[in-house]
Amino acid sequence: MSDNLQAIEALSYEQRKFSPPPTFVQSAHVSDMSLYDEAAADHEGFWARQARELLDWSVPFTQVCEWDLPYSEWFADGKLNVSFNCLDRHVLAGRGDKVAFYWEGEPGDSRVVTYSDLLDEVQKFANVLKSLGVAKGDRVNIYLPMIPEAAVAMLACARIGAAHSVVFGGFSSQALADRINDAEAKVLITADGGWRRGEVFPLKNQADDAVKLTTTIEHVVVVKRGNNDIAMQSGRDHWYHELMAKADDVCVAEPMDAEQLLFLLYTSGTTGKPKGIMHTTGGYLTHVTYTFKYVFDHHPETDIFWCTADVGWITGHSYIVYGPLANGATQVMYEGVPNFPANDRMWSIIEKYKATIFYTAPTAIRTFMKWGTQEPAKHDLSSLRLIGSVGEPINPEAWMWYQENIGGGKCPIIDTWWQTETGGIMISPLPGVTVTKPGSATFPVPGVGAELVDEEGNHVSKGGGYLTLTKPWPGMLRGIWGDQKRYRETYWSRFAGRYFAGDGAKLDDDGYLWLLGRVDDVMNVSGHRISTTEVESALVSHPSVAEAAVVGANDAMTGQAIIAYVTLRGGLEVNEQVLREHVATEIGSIAKPKAIYFTPDLPKTRSGKIMRRLLRDVAEGRNLGDTSTLADVSVVSELQRRAAETPSED
Ligand code: WTA
Repeated sequence: MSDNLQAIEALSYEQRKFSPPPTFVQSAHVSDMSLYDEAAADHEGFWARQARELLDWSVPFTQVCEWDLPYSEWFADGKLNVSFNCLDRHVLAGRGDKVAFYWEGEPGDSRVVTYSDLLDEVQKFANVLKSLGVAKGDRVNIYLPMIPEAAVAMLACARIGAAHSVVFGGFSSQALADRINDAEAKVLITADGGWRRGEVFPLKNQADDAVKLTTTIEHVVVVKRGNNDIAMQSGRDHWYHELMAKADDVCVAEPMDAEQLLFLLYTSGTTGKPKGIMHTTGGYLTHVTYTFKYVFDHHPETDIFWCTADVGWITGHSYIVYGPLANGATQVMYEGVPNFPANDRMWSIIEKYKATIFYTAPTAIRTFMKWGTQEPAKHDLSSLRLIGSVGEPINPEAWMWYQENIGGGKCPIIDTWWQTETGGIMISPLPGVTVTKPGSATFPVPGVGAELVDEEGNHVSKGGGYLTLTKPWPGMLRGIWGDQKRYRETYWSRFAGRYFAGDGAKLDDDGYLWLLGRVDDVMNVSGHRISTTEVESALVSHPSVAEAAVVGANDAMTGQAIIAYVTLRGGLEVNEQVLREHVATEIGSIAKPKAIYFTPDLPKTRSGKIMRRLLRDVAEGRNLGDTSTLADVSVVSELQRRAAETPSED
């Protein structure tokens, strides 16, 4: 192994272990290793069984996986309809009155949507789309707040074989226009506005500005939610409720080829242009239905599932819309922010709907830590039986806080690693069988092959390395829309025959995987490779620190220097030198930050990811480019002011 990789050391001080609670194991879908054994013995046979057992096929498949590296096809001669699998089959089985969504609006209004309701709406809206000229193979853009119509729109596209491209409602008009243009979408579905932090944000105005920059949009459908004043362009813009009132009730679900494009979802890469990640029908639905059932240990009769993601991200696609609905789940969907009207909103929602499974992001968990344990303590969270995390490495302190204060010490935690590109969960505990360690995503789920490699692509069985995926899986991306060269270069060129995820990870002595973040977030200081996550984790383990972001800034002397941005827990104060020494104690003096800036907030994307690249720009005194994806621009100008004023430690 190369020197660089040998230097990836992280989190090795974490020794705690948690076995699944016996009461959980008793009713768990998986409580022994048989699923792992079956998948290891026959990879394709295992996935074929999942596809046959979990889904309804209009034409059964005989082919399982056609693998022409790096292109895969799954179940290619089979036919099925995704919206039939998510809706009709539950209603036909007599479960039409089951609640699909308990929807909670930010201002406190609410709606209950059953499977029958959802099926009715989806059929009508599929007919609306057809009446607007949308046909199989077309692309439809969706730019909506977190309202049930987002799921309706997605499922209506799936019903008629149009591909959706959902753009997060917090993206700017320019970002929306870029995505519409790349996908050449015909129709845009948006809303007048949505509620956020006690105010209506004017989505339609953004949509109008975006459409001006595009040539392909023929119709805009507008859901009434904000009741804010908007302009409607005659002939182009239509109210959702008016079209729905005139639409036919029945739209039969047409069987689609398993490899029919289901959706595009744009994600940022290392270059400026976002990549349209392509997902198809049969394989994707198999992967998300399987992982939803087994990773979340979902029991449709008793569970109330709540995933806090926005439908604009892959987590919302896979674990609000497709995975849960294919499993006939009852869910909570929430429109707004976690601190409206107060810091306990999430916990009041869990109490109100008696949610049993809660799935959120580490950055949210650390924010909840910052707000204090008195907030969850105000509510009865005893309905919860499983809690999950996704999106970033979760540091052991946040993991423990989550377990104690949200999980009441009795809920297993599933730390789930996956990506927009993987479609569904890849590495995660199975909660009825896996012994967890705080901060480790543990092992690949049955049916997934993951391995670490060094710089040269040699298999690493212990210590640090690059995370690669070794076998095709049904939910894998089928490519990048319009740019298959970029697909091959981004994911398949670095290590021969392997999908390179872009993440660094470490295998400990027991074979547990510890995700260390994107490898472009790994710093190289005086020839030593140190993960930003590792230093962040050390900082956050100090009792006064709520949240930390670490970047490697160019440094003439050491190659890179470690710069830390730290948010303190309410009311606490600590000296910079104390924190530097704390990091030295936790990891070694090589990891001591050169400078620590204290800040009341960290700059985050609207999806909650810390914008490390932007922090690196601030640390290196560069002018900032486009900050349109940033949640709160004022955070950055304040940091820039301080960086200019504060002399850094040597
Ligand atoms: C990171 C989100 C550590 C990782 C589903 C990955 C994680 C990127 C985890 C994908 C986790 C996601 N532990 N890191 N449990 N989950 N990541 O496409 O760096 O928005 O490559 O998909 O998030 O982000 P994306």
